[in-house]
This record gives sequence, structure tokens and C-alpha cells, in this order.
Amino acid sequence: MNSNSIGVIGGGLMGCGIASRFALAGFDTVLVETDAARVTQITQTVDAILSELIAAGSIDADRRQQHHDAIRIVTSIDAVRDAGVVIEAIPEVLSMKHALFSELESILSPEALILSNTSGFLPDALTEKMARKERCLVAHFWNPPHMIPLVEVVPGTATHPTATEQTVDLMRRIGMQPVVLQKAIPGFIGNRLQFALLREALHIVRSGAADAATVDAVMTASLGRRYNIMGPLESADLGGLQTLLNVGTYLLPELSSDMQSLELIREYVERAELGRATGRGFYRWDADRIASISQRRLDQLRFDKDRSSSANPD
Ligand code: NAI
Repeated sequence: MNSNSIGVIGGGLMGCGIASRFALAGFDTVLVETDAARVTQITQTVDAILSELIAAGSIDADRRQQHHDAIRIVTSIDAVRDAGVVIEAIPEVLSMKHALFSELESILSPEALILSNTSGFLPDALTEKMARKERCLVAHFWNPPHMIPLVEVVPGTATHPTATEQTVDLMRRIGMQPVVLQKAIPGFIGNRLQFALLREALHIVRSGAADAATVDAVMTASLGRRYNIMGPLESADLGGLQTLLNVGTYLLPELSSDMQSLELIREYVERAELGRATGRGFYRWDADRIASISQRRLDQLRFDKDRSSSANPD
């Protein structure tokens, strides 16, 4: 087993980002994508990630090829046989993940770590068909992994504590910010918070109180700024718990608490308006909007780089 060798399974949106993160940290990275027709797309996606990081000044342009070469793209899972760590990023379909985990169990060293990037399946559900579960756990990255530092590390009931510690250590080595859940819950922490917020945003639009652009403006100009520097509970302490209790007592019963808000998204999906991918969703995705998103991402990467440089001066 080669502990510097990382296998990433699935060359989609997340697999490309996760593989890039490992390659940038100096790991020999093997990216397995069973759909051979996607290989060109993977190369382009990795290139786009490197271009963004170069434009932000996070990596040197003359190291582009070296980072590219650190990722070997293959179509057979056999290529990860010697990997010390394998992380899967295949579609969120439990039966597919079961089949993959059984295959990984049969080819990997018993000491290898098997990680899943699932958005919300419980680790015990992922490993239910495995004989050896103690080296398996969830490591949930966020999109895009080269920009968002959080990884939720979620051990199952059979995960050995050493496997969790090694995963946390590995994530720090690739510059991520791992958090460990004390107990696995569906959706972990981040997606639960995200969907609670999304449900209310949809409810507000559906009720006619405001349109999508207004809801988004409220978020980015208020909570977005605050949550970039502190979480909701630290913020609660600063705002004053008595005030929050007073407001929450009359406001919480008014908030959306059922599945109804999702109907708004269902209507878009039925019209085949899937968002950026089809050019139309809550917004019209024309060239100006796409350029504006690219610029905002670049601004954020530059901001992160400046912050990290001032925190770690030479
Ligand atoms: P995706 O659909 O973009 O990519 C999945 C890739 O896996 C496809 O290219 C597919 O051909 C390939 N694949 C399928 N079976 C395979 C196998 N047995 N071996 C090798 N490759 C195989 O999916 P995406 O969005 O990258 O999501 C992957 C996982 O990450 C899912 O579990 C998802 O819930 C999770 N996730 C997704 C996030 C997102 O924003 N899209 C964020 C965080 C987690």
C-alpha cells in the first residue's frame, strides 16, 4: 500500500475538484471515471480549476503542467489497488455506492481508508453490505472543493477512532478545514443548515412577499457577510439571547416547516428549467451573469489568499 497514493472514484463535478485538491497538495492522485467519453471533459475541468487558482495568484502559472500531471485519469478501478486512501464521488444512489464499496473492499489493502463524499447518506447505510467497516467513513466536501475549505468528517458506529483521526489529519494536509460530527445525522450539519435556509427562501418567493433577486440581495448583504466571520450561535450571543428568545417566540411558528416550498422548484424542473445547466432557472444564465459569477469567485479567492498571506507572513 502506498500512503502517498490517493484514489478518487467518479470524475464528475466533485471528483475533479477533490482530485485537484489532493494533486495540489503533492499526492499521486488517480481519478477513476468509468465513462470513457467523459475523460476529455475531466481534463478541461481540472484545467479550469488550475486557471482560476493561477488567476487568483494562489498557484504559479509555471507549475500548471506539474499539477496536471499529478492526476492520472483512468477508467478501471484496478488502478487504485495500491492506494492508501480512496474517496468516492459517484452519483448519490445508494445501490451504486454499495456495489462500489464491495468492489473496493475486495481490492484494497485492509489498512486503506475508504471515504465517501456523499451529501447526506449515513455512514452505516453506506457500509451495510461490507464485511470490514472500521476503515470507512464520510468525508463530505463542498462545491467547489478548491474554494470551500470545509470537510464534514462523519464516522459510522463501526468506524475505528484511528480512521477518523487519520482522515482529519489527511484533510488538514491538503489545506481543508475538517469538522467531526459526534453522531451521524442525515445531511450532516451543512446541508441541514443549507436546506433549512433554502426552504424559507422558497417559501418567501412563493408567498409573493419578494422575488428571487430580492431574497438573494438580503442574504448576501446581511447574513452572508455575518456568516463569513461567525456562525449563527456566536452571532446569537452577540445579538443577545433575550432578544432572540422574544423574536423567535412569535417568528418561529410563522416559518415554513413542511415540503410545500419544494413545489416551486418542482415547477421549474417540470419546465426543464434546471438552472445554469439549461440557461434558465430562477435567473436567466446569459454571458453577463456567468461572467459576473466568475468575477465574484475570483474576488473571493484573492481575498482568501490575501488573508492567508497576512496570517502567515514570510
Ligand atoms: P456527477 O454526476 O457530476 O459525477 C459522478 C461521476 O461518477 C460521473 O462522471 C459518473 O460517470 C461517474 N461514475 C458513476 N459510477 C462510477 C463508478 N462505479 N466508478 C467510477 N466512476 C463512476 O456527481 P457529483 O455532483 O460530482 O456528486 C458526486 C457525489 O458527491 C454524490 O454523492 C453527491 O451527492 C456528492 N456531493 C455533490 C455536491 C455537488 O454540489 N454536486 C457537493 C457535495 C457532495
